[in-house]
Amino acid sequence: MNKSIFSHRSIRNFKQDAIPENLMKKILEAAIRASNTGNMQAYSIVVSTEKAIKEKLLPLHFNQKMVVEAPAVITFCADLNRFEKWCKLRNAEPQYDNFLWLYTASIDAVIAAQNLCIAAEDEGLGICYLGTTNYTAKQIIDVLNLPKLVIPVTTVVLGYPNENPELTERLPLEAVVHFQKYSEYSDNDINSLYAEKESLELSRKLIVENETENLAQIFTQKRYTGKNNIHFSKELLKAIEEQGFMNNDN
Ligand SMILES: Cc1cc2nc3c(=O)[nH]c(=O)nc-3n(C[C@H](O)[C@H](O)[C@H](O)COP(=O)(O)O)c2cc1C
Repeated sequence: MNKSIFSHRSIRNFKQDAIPENLMKKILEAAIRASNTGNMQAYSIVVSTEKAIKEKLLPLHFNQKMVVEAPAVITFCADLNRFEKWCKLRNAEPQYDNFLWLYTASIDAVIAAQNLCIAAEDEGLGICYLGTTNYTAKQIIDVLNLPKLVIPVTTVVLGYPNENPELTERLPLEAVVHFQKYSEYSDNDINSLYAEKESLELSRKLIVENETENLAQIFTQKRYTGKNNIHFSKELLKAIEEQGFMNNDN
């Protein structure tokens, strides 16, 4: 079993050291070995190592300092642009400018991203995903010059760790795994499945810091609020439309 999977922790403090070119190439090769729909590889990977570009990306990732401190910021994009171009050059009529293929290509992009992360951690590097990609996709499109039918799906910062944080907890296996069919959760199930997480020292500390009644309210009232969720949904839908992915008619 791959050991780095079980020792994974997100890294948010990086050393300045650059990633050697041959190592970066190996990690990228690992990313593109991932399973992907129809072997079409409907994604692109944008590796940003230049200071000037990382500085432009910084505010788009809500000033998370890893964006400038990590030697590489890697944006994984759903990409039907390249595949459509190939089809058109070969007298094949593509119709991948729709929601199904945005969804499909996004899955491929994320699987490639996770392959990259596992390979990187195997080599002693650290990673952190940046969900902010989905909040500011439109602006990231501009900074990275993404053409129509290309949209950023997720970002990974990559570099040598300058910290060794504690492993974070996970819900017990029975909370997330269903055998044969989905078994709906009773209130009692929820109470017992979340009990351990809620009783952690860290959870109690966060509740005090956030001045909420409980852990769940930190998510709903502070981290991922309804107002922001709707705002960023609308922004993302606009970006998806502008990138040409909503041609769902014949
Ligand atoms: C899609 C995705 C987006 C994430 N976005 C952020 C982010 O913007 N900033 C951050 O510090 N961590 C981010 N993370 C890291 C998670 O917070 C982290 O994976 C989670 O808390 C579990 O901790 P661990 O990765 O150390 O096990 C993201 C993770 C994923 C998978």
